[in-house]
Amino acid sequence: MELKDKVVWITGASSGIGKALAQQAGKKGARLILSGRNTARLQEVQKSLSDPGNSRVLPLDLANLESFDRIVQEALSAFGTVDILVNNAGISQRSLIAETGLDVYERLMHVNYLGTIGLSKALLPYFVENQKGHFVVVTSLMGKFGSPLRSGYCGAKHALHGFFDVLRMEHEKDSIAVTLVCPGFVNTDIARNALTGDGSAQENQDNATANGMDPDRFARKMLHAIQRRKMEVNIGGKEVSGAYMKRFFPGLLHKLVLRSQVV
Ligand SMILES: NC(=O)c1ccc[n+]([C@@H]2O[C@H](COP(=O)([O-])OP(=O)(O)OC[C@H]3O[C@@H](n4cnc5c(N)ncnc54)[C@H](OP(=O)(O)O)[C@@H]3O)[C@@H](O)[C@H]2O)c1
Repeated sequence: MELKDKVVWITGASSGIGKALAQQAGKKGARLILSGRNTARLQEVQKSLSDPGNSRVLPLDLANLESFDRIVQEALSAFGTVDILVNNAGISQRSLIAETGLDVYERLMHVNYLGTIGLSKALLPYFVENQKGHFVVVTSLMGKFGSPLRSGYCGAKHALHGFFDVLRMEHEKDSIAVTLVCPGFVNTDIARNALTGDGSAQENQDNATANGMDPDRFARKMLHAIQRRKMEVNIGGKEVSGAYMKRFFPGLLHKLVLRSQVV
């Protein structure tokens, strides 16, 4: 599928993977809608695009579920249509279960799961009416197997797989595609922004994230999968093998993950 003139709506476009994806998709001639909470940073990203005039900034907070019908109308009126919604925005966690408040779990589920399915559900009737559309969902390898300190994040990302696998089945007849993108470690601010047990941001970078894939390289691989309308893709370094180990050797994966962590 060619991206030229396609309208691609990216959440979490103010930073990391979403920013890199916007820049790469812009180079391929896509018309872009850039969403996130931080309007100033979205405008900076817009300026960095090869053709800033071919993009719009549309601020949104995924925790504000009531706003989605209005936001979808605004997205549709930006260019008259939306071809691809990239549900990329998300927030991670770095805290032990025993030290994490339920309010932190609520926030992780609200932003990562309810916000993502809510926005997609608000756009779905438009895709059904037009008998076409593409939902891309950035989950994580943590949507396929667990790792200490990320219990709520893992729960929310696993839940996304369940929901969007069903959406793909229920709406295949409407020619609606779903691509689940599962990153391994990518060098972004995800660890700095991760919630700790009291809900404050960790603020420090993790070694694994700092040594992760470059976001531009990641975005190129992700666009390749989107253009091929793949059902699911794992993108990362050797950590990707965890997804296969979970399926075939879950006991071994359990031991290896514990050995690689200091909990
Ligand atoms: N980097 C990795 O190693 C890695 C690994 C696996 C999965 N992922 C996934 O990749 C996606 C992108 O993360 P990243 O690595 O690029 O991290 P990032 O640099 O922290 O970017 C996260 C993005 O999400 C947006 N966001 C956060 N809360 C939001 C909210 N309530 N409403 C709207 N937007 C919100 C942020 O924008 P504002 O602050 O402007 O709202 C930001 O643009 C996430 O879904 C993450 O879980 C990343």
